[in-house]
Amino acid sequence: MACDGLAAKFDEVASAIAHGAIVPGVTPPEIRGHLAEHYTFATPRALDDVVSDVESMLRRWQVHVTHPRYFGLFNPSVTFASVVGDLLTAMYNPQLATWRTSPAANEIERHTLGWLAAKLGLPADAIATFTSGGAEANLSAVIVALTRAFPAYGEDGLRALRGAPVMYLSGEAHHSFSKIAHMTGLGRSAVRAIAVRDDLTMDLEDLARQVEDDRRAGRLPFMVVGTAGTTSAGAIDPLAGLARFCRDESLWLHVDAAWGGAAIISPRLKPYLAGIEHADSITCDAHKWFSVPMGAGMFFCRHRETLSEAFRAETSYMPRKTAGETFDPYTSSVQWSRRFVGLKLFLALAHYGEAGYVEMIERQARLGDVLRDALRDAGWRIVNRTPLPVVCFTRDGLDTAEFLAGLYARQVAWMSDVRLAGGAPVLRACVTSIRTTEADVQAVVDDISATSTLASKAA
Ligand SMILES: Cc1ncc(COP(=O)(O)O)c(C=O)c1O
Repeated sequence: MACDGLAAKFDEVASAIAHGAIVPGVTPPEIRGHLAEHYTFATPRALDDVVSDVESMLRRWQVHVTHPRYFGLFNPSVTFASVVGDLLTAMYNPQLATWRTSPAANEIERHTLGWLAAKLGLPADAIATFTSGGAEANLSAVIVALTRAFPAYGEDGLRALRGAPVMYLSGEAHHSFSKIAHMTGLGRSAVRAIAVRDDLTMDLEDLARQVEDDRRAGRLPFMVVGTAGTTSAGAIDPLAGLARFCRDESLWLHVDAAWGGAAIISPRLKPYLAGIEHADSITCDAHKWFSVPMGAGMFFCRHRETLSEAFRAETSYMPRKTAGETFDPYTSSVQWSRRFVGLKLFLALAHYGEAGYVEMIERQARLGDVLRDALRDAGWRIVNRTPLPVVCFTRDGLDTAEFLAGLYARQVAWMSDVRLAGGAPVLRACVTSIRTTEADVQAVVDDISATSTLASKAA
């Protein structure tokens, strides 16, 4: 397949988005009315017409996360090579439930994951799978950790245990764990929120205290989650200290590096993740800082046998396991039928090369520093500390909801607000687009500084 025609289309879309509105002002009745009027499905329509109408809906009616001035929630702009990967996946539709149904796809994924596992410092016999995203990877981690800690869990369930299992994560960790505790039968109250220090990283003393209290009360601590790049503020928990603690206490250490994990390939940022190599399991999303389209998480696990036990399945209707060093994704992950998730990352890595990726990531980290400095120079107060490009900021008397409504109405940028450690809302801007330039950063800071100065003068 020659990619030239597609590349022209990709560039045209990127350019239209960069020069258009970022935030839609549409209402549910407007969209529903359009769909009800044009799509009764009673008669066939020309595909070109439908595609053109769908494109028009997507252009007008979404927050454009691929816009250069989208400073949002880890949704990246996508590289062209990764888009080609998704197209090929859809056209060939390989089935990745078993190795036998698509040896090519399985080996491409294994090769790609092996490259990243080595960067993360995991041993050669670690196992990794692509997932739908970070939430599924985190779910996998909890299931495997339970399976390792409590051999009876798989057959007889939590009711077979002699106490209530408990897991630990900082109050700033991702809230997928709350849902996971619900889904796995642990119950949401099994999740302990550990206090954070001034820099929003986990307080190891509070962790030790809570684990001890739970043990004394007859509960069963089994897992600690460290976050490498919290969603709100990009904080990186003390991973090396966590690894020591978990080893001494025989607890499973999972590192949720859904966004920040990509920093491992950057010589400049890698030291901030020191200790991740000791994790029992790691979440790292390709569809965040690796800039590929949605639906691409990764789960890495040091304990191959426990993972195989956790996701074991026996049926006569599935093809038999292929002999040798192969594994079937349906018996080593949450999903059964699975799409070729890994191709978009493989194609992008092969095309841009490791150096190309390092450049993309370090450039965005540098732009984060530019953003921090420009905001400070303009009189804003920066309220988080991280080497990653998430900047949380505020100024006296700021009403974040009102500020954001004005920002969206002016179509200047997309950013959000957040409460750090339960405090008052502050603004959150994350450089997460390969398309963002220094000029974009400066233009946004100029705009918001002028506007909010005017607003405070008026008040
Ligand atoms: C730290 C962290 N973990 C997990 C997730 C969930 O990932 P996903 O949305 O890919 O399921 C996110 C999402 O932003 C995240 O920031």
